[in-house]
Amino acid sequence: MKICIVGLGYVGLPLAIQFARADVTVFGLDVDQAKVDLINDGRSYIKHIADETLARVVGQNGFTASTDFGRVKECEAVIICVPTPLSKNREPDISYVLDTGRSIAPHLAKGTLVVLESTTYPGTTDEDLRAVLENGSGLKAGADFHLAFSPEREDPANEQSKVKLIPKVVGGYTPDCLERAMALYGKAIDTLVPVSSCRVAEATKLLENIFRSVNIALVNELKLVYGAMGIDIWEVIEAAKTKPFGFMPFYPGPGLGGHCIPIDPFYLTWKAREYGKNTRFIELAGEINTAMPEHVVARVAEALNNSGKAVKGSRILIAGLAYKPNVDDERESPSYVLMELLSRRGAEVDYYDPYVPVIKPPREHSQWAGKRSVEWNRETIARFDLVLIATNHASVNYKELAAWSSCIVDTRNALSGIQLPAGKLWKA
Ligand SMILES: NC(=O)c1ccc[n+]([C@@H]2O[C@H](COP(=O)([O-])OP(=O)(O)OC[C@H]3O[C@@H](n4cnc5c(N)ncnc54)[C@H](O)[C@@H]3O)[C@@H](O)[C@H]2O)c1
Repeated sequence: MKICIVGLGYVGLPLAIQFARADVTVFGLDVDQAKVDLINDGRSYIKHIADETLARVVGQNGFTASTDFGRVKECEAVIICVPTPLSKNREPDISYVLDTGRSIAPHLAKGTLVVLESTTYPGTTDEDLRAVLENGSGLKAGADFHLAFSPEREDPANEQSKVKLIPKVVGGYTPDCLERAMALYGKAIDTLVPVSSCRVAEATKLLENIFRSVNIALVNELKLVYGAMGIDIWEVIEAAKTKPFGFMPFYPGPGLGGHCIPIDPFYLTWKAREYGKNTRFIELAGEINTAMPEHVVARVAEALNNSGKAVKGSRILIAGLAYKPNVDDERESPSYVLMELLSRRGAEVDYYDPYVPVIKPPREHSQWAGKRSVEWNRETIARFDLVLIATNHASVNYKELAAWSSCIVDTRNALSGIQLPAGKLWKA
């Protein structure tokens, strides 16, 4: 079997590797020539995917990458894993999905299966993508080609999260489309969860991410309330999670980050308006989560003030630029918001992140592009008036950080268990 995977990022690349390992011939398609060249060279551009892992499937399983969408005509199935961000006005931007549809449509042959994996609102597959594919190919979905949606459940850097082992939800445009999509994923994934339509599959992914967003908002709110009472939220969560049923721990932080949790809930909010429905719960969670960086900055000001300093003119180091521990992904990272808020108040801001040696041009916060991580040594760290821990990478030595810094604001409980003199450590 030959398939195409379009969009070779954090989702598409691991999926391509898993299909290649299952002896499916995979053509990876991407608009980014640099990624294509690296893949064909057997070199990974994602920290948690080793070069050897990629080189093995390129060398032994015939995985190749290309920017030539004409390859689609050689394939029995096309899986789309392109970005679904929000626009400047915080509305869904499905232009990457539609552009991909336009690129593949002229090459669609009768009987081809097209599956969308990008997270999106219900209706994207059977309304928007279907229209683009039908217009560009002259074929009819469900009759001439098959169409399905199957959400990705990738959790980058989570050792337990293996593409093969994560149950995969699949919804088809017709029962035949579902059957074809099940046959495709059955080759590479152990457990499949068929649902009655593309829309149910799209809605399932949104429920999963909204569940996280709402629960994170809850612990962020409790962090403020318990903090005012002198109670440490981290200690409370550790105790609560000993309950063997009916509780699942979520952790507070400096704000939401990544390509999913800060974005996906608003795909539903936007679509719900078409049906005259409000999403108050989702929006309240968004409001609480987006207020977190301001709370952190207020703690930074308090900590500096305690040693007779102002934010203006202070040197502040953000420890951790990635949006979560142990990954090199800094998209939508709250660290950018913190850097912006602090520099707007006159602070001199730098960052340290072993996984982000230099800031690539991001879609947002482009003013930081080209900035480099500071070096990890006592002399460099000790020059800062305050260190703000925004991400807790396991490879960072927090004992050293604690010893080298004069004042630390910790948003991740990274210094838990390290004894420090009064006034040096501030939780936020
Ligand atoms: N990263 C995650 O942990 C995660 C988890 C679950 C779901 N998702 C969803 O999966 C989708 C992809 O996310 P990602 O993190 O892999 O994004 P990514 O930015 O890492 O990768 C997307 C890739 O698509 C390519 N691309 C963009 N436009 C294209 C086009 N027109 N044709 C071909 N390639 C194109 C980009 O060059 C890039 O390599 C998103 O909808 C996201 O919400 C992501």
